[in-house]
Amino acid sequence: MEINVNAYAKLNISLDVISKMENGYHEMKMVMQSVSLCDDIKIACAEGSGKIHMKTNRNYLPNDDRNIAVKAARVFCEETGISGYDISIDILKRIPVCAGLGGGSSDAAAVLRAMNTLFDTKLTARRLEVMGEKLGSDVPYCVAGGTVLAQGRGEILSDLPALPECSVVICKPAFSISTPELFSRIKCDKIKCRPDTEGLLKALETGDLKDAARRTYNVFEDVLVQGAEEIAMIKNTLYDYRAIGAAMSGTGSAVFGLFENEADAKEAYNVLKSKYKECFLTKTIGKIEI
Ligand code: C5P
Repeated sequence: MEINVNAYAKLNISLDVISKMENGYHEMKMVMQSVSLCDDIKIACAEGSGKIHMKTNRNYLPNDDRNIAVKAARVFCEETGISGYDISIDILKRIPVCAGLGGGSSDAAAVLRAMNTLFDTKLTARRLEVMGEKLGSDVPYCVAGGTVLAQGRGEILSDLPALPECSVVICKPAFSISTPELFSRIKCDKIKCRPDTEGLLKALETGDLKDAARRTYNVFEDVLVQGAEEIAMIKNTLYDYRAIGAAMSGTGSAVFGLFENEADAKEAYNVLKSKYKECFLTKTIGKIEI
């Protein structure tokens, strides 16, 4: 048995950190959005002794239990009681790694979705999201994606009216940022500027793309130690080519710009592509059916 699925990248249209919780995680308020940029995942299973093999086109990624996609396959088998199969996972990665685009989380969520189909377990999206919580804070969102308000650690999800479809340019500078380190730098009572999440939600309700896009904001941009200038320069380039909103995604270092006009997005992409290896011209997408 074999199945092919896509694992889509996510953007944080807005990202706010509300407080530090007792369990060490932070309480978040984020508007998340899926884009068509994706990894391709092939999962095959055959009768066997429960081994999980995996490979990717990125030789620096671990292929064993340290990989979140392998962990996802294990969690799925444990939670459903499925045993007696060898599973092989083959991932063609396109989403940049350590970029704030949810690449690993999306791979894990796609493994859960794929195994649900492969083994005909008919679990609901909600069940898969709860499984996803065991794997990482962004995994529950990545199960079905779309335009969503994510709160709590990232696992409390509320569907929002879809952001009107638009072109997106994503550019990841060469440096990466450590997620735990950036979280440790943020002091919630010292955040001077926060996203207008309520205004963003209203703009989504009225379907006003421009009004939503101009509220794009990420509080992590204010606590960067490294690369702040480069991130600002990429944002400036995106705005030079008429982006209607631009921000770093998650804990970075990828930066995205939203465009009303595809030709503008193409121009911005071409300019950034001449300087940066990891640039993508993509577009927003809706929810994934489970
Ligand atoms: O859940 P995940 O493994 O993706 O989180 C990685 C790290 O990011 C955590 O160990 C924690 O330091 C930080 N984090 C946090 N609050 C969140 C999500 C992540 O502090 N809501």
